Order: sequence, then C-alpha cells, then structure tokens
Amino acid sequence: MNTKLAIFASGTGTNFVALADAITAQQLPAQIVLLVVDHPDIAVIERAKERNVPAFYLNYKSFPNKQAAELALVAKLQAASVDLILLAGYMRILTPTLLDIYPKRVINIHPALLPNFPGRHGILDAFNAGVTETGVTVHYVDAGIDTGEIIQQAVVPIEAGKGLAALETQIHAVEHELYPTVLAQLITTED
Ligand code: GAR
Repeated sequence: MNTKLAIFASGTGTNFVALADAITAQQLPAQIVLLVVDHPDIAVIERAKERNVPAFYLNYKSFPNKQAAELALVAKLQAASVDLILLAGYMRILTPTLLDIYPKRVINIHPALLPNFPGRHGILDAFNAGVTETGVTVHYVDAGIDTGEIIQQAVVPIEAGKGLAALETQIHAVEHELYPTVLAQLITTED
C-alpha cells in the first residue's frame, strides 16, 4: 500500500512540487494526503489545489498555546491516516506533543550541510561564511532547530566567483532530486 504523506510548508512549495512530481512519475511509492500550512495565503496552497491535495491551515494564534495547536494538528493527521510527515520549508519548531506520536516519522530537508548553518537562512549563512562547500541535508526532526539525526547529505561546491543567486538555484535543484530519492529509499526499505 502507498505510504500516506503529509507535507508541512510555509512558503513557495518547490519541494512540494518536486515530491508530487516524483509520485506522478512513479519514482516514489506514496501519496500526498494533506498539505499543512501555517499561513493562509502562501503559494504552496495553490500548488496543492492544482493537484487536488487538501490543505489544512493551522492558525497557531487561534489556540491558547502551541500544545493545543499541535493536538488539533495531530487529530487532523490521524483522521487522514498519515504515515509520514515531511517538512518542506516549514518554518516552525515542532514539540514532543506531536513528535512523540510520530517517532522517526517526521523528516525535514535543510539547504546546508548540517550541523553547519541551521536555521532559516542556511544558503545565505554558508555563502557569507565563505566556505568552499555547502549542500543539502535530509534528517529526522527532533525538537531542536535542524538538529535531528541525519539521513543523507549531498555536497554542493562553492567555486570562487559563484554568486548567491547561482548557489541558491543549484541548492534548490539538488533538494528537488535528493528529497524524493531519499524518501523512496526509506519507504522501500521499510516495506
Ligand atoms: C527549502 O530550501 C528548504 O530546504 C528550506 O526552505 C526552502 C523551502 O522552499 N528549509 C529550511 O531552511 C529549514 N530550516 P520551497 O517552499 O520552495 O520548498
């Protein structure tokens, strides 16, 4: 049976599209049953609509605290029988309220070679640091900021003279390959 995925996103959704396209191309034996967003008007919602994926807007502010918000989210995930949660540009920290219910079932992609350059600006931070290589990391999610166990990494060299825009383009291209590939390996190994 296909693994049921929920994708959590806060922005453009290019990784959402890469995952959806890999499923369509039968490179990833899964189905996206839910998109979770933390803003009501972001581009990824449109990408989901085009693909008939239902979107759930989690309005954290409408709950008394984060725990209550995550409990509402867990109810939504359970109702959709979600097997695996994929963060794809989700810019919030999850807590044990959700993570303990999905042990080793929450995965993130980060645009740097963790543990280097965690946080919201992985590409820019690596660029500004003047390192000669950076990359992409797929990892399990824990309650820290990009600190969970690493599953796989891909290196992207930063040659002298490469500009930030070129680096961003290259990192995103690597992300769009790596995320579906790693997931396909994980899902297939578990079968
Ligand atoms: C991606 O580059 C992803 O790696 C990054 O947000 C971007 C989302 O792009 N995530 C992080 O920085 C997590 N710390 P997208 O909305 O086009 O998929």
